[in-house]
Formats: sequence, C-alpha cells, structure tokens
Amino acid sequence: MSRPFIVAIDGPAGAGKSTTSRRLAARLGFAMVDTGAIYRTVALAARRRGVLYEDDAALGPLLAGLIIRFAPPPPGDPAAGQRVLLGEEDVSAAIRTPEMSLGASAVSARPVVRAALLDLQRRLAIAAGNRGAVLEGRDIGTVVFPDADAKFFLTASPEVRARRRHAELAARGDGTPFEQVLADQLKRDRDDSSREVAPLRPAPDAVVFDSSSLSLDEVVEALAAEVRARVARGGLAG
Ligand code: DC
Repeated sequence: MSRPFIVAIDGPAGAGKSTTSRRLAARLGFAMVDTGAIYRTVALAARRRGVLYEDDAALGPLLAGLIIRFAPPPPGDPAAGQRVLLGEEDVSAAIRTPEMSLGASAVSARPVVRAALLDLQRRLAIAAGNRGAVLEGRDIGTVVFPDADAKFFLTASPEVRARRRHAELAARGDGTPFEQVLADQLKRDRDDSSREVAPLRPAPDAVVFDSSSLSLDEVVEALAAEVRARVARGGLAG
C-alpha cells in the first residue's frame, strides 16, 4: 500500500523540534504530527480523572476511551499552529504546562501507553498527509516509522535547550525560574533516555543535527534540502 513521504524528527526536549517541524512541514506542503502532544494529552486526561501516571490497570481503560485529534490553527491565527483536541475540547494550552511535561514523560514510560498510541500515530500520519507528513517525537525513526523516508535527530546542549524552553514559557506568562526549567529538563532527558521501552536514541540511519550553534532557520534550510533531495531520488513530486 502506498503511504505519504514520511519525515521523522526525533530528539530531546528543547532541541527545536516543534518549530523546525512546523516550518519544514509548511515549506514542503506536508502535514505535521506532534506526537509529544498526544502523550501530553494522555497525561492531562489521567490527571483530570485522578489516574496515577504509573497505574497501568487504570491507564488501559482510560486510553481506550480517549479521542485525540489535531485541528487546524484557530481562524485568523495561523502562526498559533495546530490545535490539539481531546474529544471536542481544545487542550492546546492546557497540555503545555511544566506539570504536563513531566506527566507526559511519566506516562510515556508505560508500555501500555506506548502500545496504545503506536497505531494512532501511524494512522494520523497516513490520513493527514497525501503528499507527506513530518512526525516529531522521540521514537519516530526507531519505532513508529522505522522505514521513514528521511530521519533526523535534532539535539543541542542542555543549557541551550533549557534557555529556549525558559523563553517559551516566559512568553506565555509562565514565570518558572531558569534553574527549575533546567532541572526538570535534565530529569526528563534522563527518564526518556533510560526507560526500557523505546528509549530516546538516534536511529542508526538518522542524520544528526546539533542546533547549539545553528539558528533554527539554518536547521530548517538544511532539513528541507535533504528532504527535497530524497523526494527527487524517490521519483515523487517535489
Ligand atoms: O516533545 P514533548 O516535550 O511534547 O514530549 C513530551 C513527553 O512525551 C517527552 O518527555 C517524552 C514523551 N514522548 C515520547 O516518549 N515519545 C514520543 N514520540 C513523543 C514524546
């Protein structure tokens, strides 16, 4: 069965994946699937229903009842990016708090959660992109689409990543201090990389970019050039 051209972008928190993926997808006319937003939405739903992040027996039925979708940005504000819907509710802002970052990291370590979300991520990508889809996450190139057409691993030093995340939070009026952002991020890095299922690591065939000293524009430029070259080699319409 034919499927869209799949671009996998993996890497740790704060490496610039979201901005890069959004801009790359817009530039190529591809759909975009932010898989971290899906894990965040599961954490939010668990929190609201009083389900502990480690409670596999309760997480299973919770997941079975969740409807998570992406919707276009609000009319008149295209720069806001895709909206994330839990049922009919727009949870785009509610899932972006520091608490939900740690919650998402916790639920994402549970095999029951990863198994339930695997198929959803694949379906969203295949349904969303008739030309192609950019998927952003931690295990896209290793687990979700091991046969992705282009794989990238974006990283940057912990300080640079924490500085970016701190600025993002501040822009939203969240006053979490830098030291706290850095400490939370180091914990997430450690947890995401050391978990047993689908730990964060570059796929052997991923192109690795360190964005510590590159601007996001330069990163997008480099990724777009690489994708276009691969699209051309594959004989698909570029
Ligand atoms: O990219 P993000 O910060 O929105 O991701 C939130 C958490 O979800 C992150 O700590 C790890 C987890 N995650 C994952 O395990 N696998 C993915 N494909 C995406 C996110």
